[in-house]
Order: sequence, then C-alpha cells, then structure tokens
Amino acid sequence: MTHDAIEVISAKRDRQALTDSQIDWVIDAYTRGDVADEQMSALAMAILLNGMDLREISRWTDAMIASGERMDFSSLSRPTADKHSTGGVGDKITLPLAPLVAACGVAVPQLSGRGLGHTGGTLDKLEAIPGWRAALSNDEMLAQLEDVGAVICAAGDGLAPADKKLYALRDVTGTVEAIPLIASSIMSKKIAEGTGALVLDVKVGTGAFMKDLDRARELAETMVGLGNAAGVHTVALLTDMSTPLGLTAGNAVEVAESVEVLAGGGPADVVELTLALAREMLAGAGVTDVDPADKLADGSAMDAWKAMVRAQGGDPDATLPTARESHVVTAPATGTLTRLDAMAVGLAAWRLGAGRARKEDPVQAGAGVVWHARPGDEVTEGQPLLTLLTDEPERFERALDSLEGGYDVGDAASYTPTDLVLDRIS
Ligand code: URA
Repeated sequence: MTHDAIEVISAKRDRQALTDSQIDWVIDAYTRGDVADEQMSALAMAILLNGMDLREISRWTDAMIASGERMDFSSLSRPTADKHSTGGVGDKITLPLAPLVAACGVAVPQLSGRGLGHTGGTLDKLEAIPGWRAALSNDEMLAQLEDVGAVICAAGDGLAPADKKLYALRDVTGTVEAIPLIASSIMSKKIAEGTGALVLDVKVGTGAFMKDLDRARELAETMVGLGNAAGVHTVALLTDMSTPLGLTAGNAVEVAESVEVLAGGGPADVVELTLALAREMLAGAGVTDVDPADKLADGSAMDAWKAMVRAQGGDPDATLPTARESHVVTAPATGTLTRLDAMAVGLAAWRLGAGRARKEDPVQAGAGVVWHARPGDEVTEGQPLLTLLTDEPERFERALDSLEGGYDVGDAASYTPTDLVLDRIS
C-alpha cells in the first residue's frame, strides 16, 4: 500500500497511532530519498511531542532493520553477547569488557561509534593505539570472532542505513531525546548485528542523556522489550553517571586505565561495572560456570586484549601518545571531595580536544582529564585535584570554565555515597 508523507506527518501531529503500513512506507521512502529531510524532521518532532505506543516502536525498529543487511554469527563455534552503553563520561568499559568476556568463552561482536559532544567514543579511544584500525569487512569480523573471540569495530554502511540517515537528522533538529526514537535507533542496530544476547548499560545522571531515573527506566524497559521480542536475550542495568567513571576521561588516558584493569588493577568502580556487565553477558549467553574475576586475575583477559588489538593492526605494547601540554587544578581546601560532576569533566575533556563538535572533526589522542581523587576521598588544600591535557594550550581556558562549580570539597558528613548499579531490568 502506498502513502504520502503529509498524510503520515499529519496523523502523528494529530496524536494518532501510525499503522504498520504507514511506518513501513515512510522508513523505506525516507531511506530511498522519496521522503525529504524536512518531512522526516517534522515527523520526528511529532513523534517527540506525541510519542508512540509499543506496537509502533516495534514496527519502526523492524522497518529500520529491514532497510539494510542483517549479520549472521550462527556459524561461530561459541555463543555471542554484546553490550551497549547509552554514553557517559570516562566510560571505557567496553575496552576491558570485550576481551574479558571473550576469555570466558563467549564471542563479543561489538560495533561501536565515535564520540559526539561531551561523551567519548570507543573507536576514538582505540585509535589512540598506534596502528589500530576500526574498519573491518564482515568476513574479517567473523574470522576475528572465531580466532580471538572479540571484535570492536565500526558498523559498516549496510547496517540499518535508515537509522544512519535519521540519526544525523535528529542530531540537528532537536529530536534526539525522544524515547521511541532512541530505543528504535539503538535496538535496530543491535538486532541487525545478530548478537544472541545483549546487555544495555543505561546511564542516569548529569553526564548522561537521561538525567532522571524514571525516564532511564522507561527507555530501558522499551529497549529490553524490543530485544526480547526479536529473540535477543536482553537485560539492562541502570547505572550512575552523575560522577565520571574511573580516574580518566579522554582517549589514550582511557586506554591506559583499561589496560590497568586488564592487568588486575585499576579503579574500583571500573572493575565493579566491568564485572557486573560481564556476568550479565555470560548469563545471557548461557555460560554460568565461569567467574570473570578469575580471568582478570589469571591474565587470560589481558591475553585476549593483546590478540584483539594485534588482529586489527595495533601494537598493544606500543607507548601511547601523550599530550604536549598539561595544567594542574589544585584542591581549594582540605576535606572530603563530596562531588565531581560528570558533565563538567566531560565538557572539559571535550574542550581540551578529546572529543569533536562536528562529526568530521579530528580528535587529539593525548587530550583529556585525569582526576587524582574520587568523591569520598580526603584531599589536602593545594594538592593536585585534576590534570588537564591537550596539545593546544589555548584550550585550557574554556576547559577550566566548564569545571567551574563542577566539584565540592567539604565535610565527610556531607558526602553521601551513591550505588553504581541503580536497577536491573529484564
Ligand atoms: N545512540 C544511538 O545509537 N541512537 C540514539 O538515538 C541515541 C544514542
């Protein structure tokens, strides 16, 4: 059945549920270029304002999957599991997690993206490793999954092309925040990718897309429903992103911190979240007799990391790039660090050159922020609190502006610890 764009836009504008046929038509026609960007923008805004019911979201997701290819890992000798984070500051978890889960016997086909705005991108981080390449063909990906067990690479152009076009449009039309559009965007790619199990890390807090727990829960429930209905064993953890993860935000600095975790050390919160997500991925893939903590301790996760990096042309033993310039921010008083705001740190790292403002911009491998205390730690007036790193010292001023009001030092009594894992949705 054929439709026209104005009919579909008007229906959503007037708060009607779109029919299956209208959804199939509009996604297909937009992908082919028969529905114009300005028409799709109007429809995206109508969806943001008036919502979609679960049937519409599910059909929209299916139509985006059908716009491209589906990958098939059924020929692999082991089960597959993937993780998706909705994006945070200092969120380097994919780096230690993928080789760790591979070391436990489950293959990890991780299609990742680049950072845009204040949240970092996994591919940008890995590109700090000399020689490492993000682009793999489907055959290379399959071979690496069989040989090494883990791949982190860029999604090819053939996967959910409707989402690629629509996401770029949402980015410039103020329509990213609609839960039906976020859920269908993420899940169309993950379902098309062909993973058997999926764990969603839905971030909540100042440094996340979702600032409050209720909206994060609604997004998580929607995505878990879409995944399970498509036959992908899907669970979500809601995790705190009001404080940045670990002690680093940037590219090379986050790789170095991930390697510390793989060597059996690293910040406690990064280790805790890596293990929590690994256990969910293993359970989703049906592997219940392996404790991932053992694989960190016995070096097998590190071996899988080195094999994964080498398989993509990188040298895991090479010295990582460092920034040419640094600037130290000292503690303003003696006491307890009671708050370190994820958004402030993320913006600072971005302004130092770790992230990009437009998708074609380059990033600096050495840029970022390293903090020397975490909320709850005691600090002494004048001690280094944060170190800012960049190749371009003119960036320090704007980075310092974003850190203004981003941390507090006070009494131990005014510090309330928050849980890292806030909820689990299955
Ligand atoms: N990540 C995606 O892939 N899509 C969204 O809509 C938001 C985050």
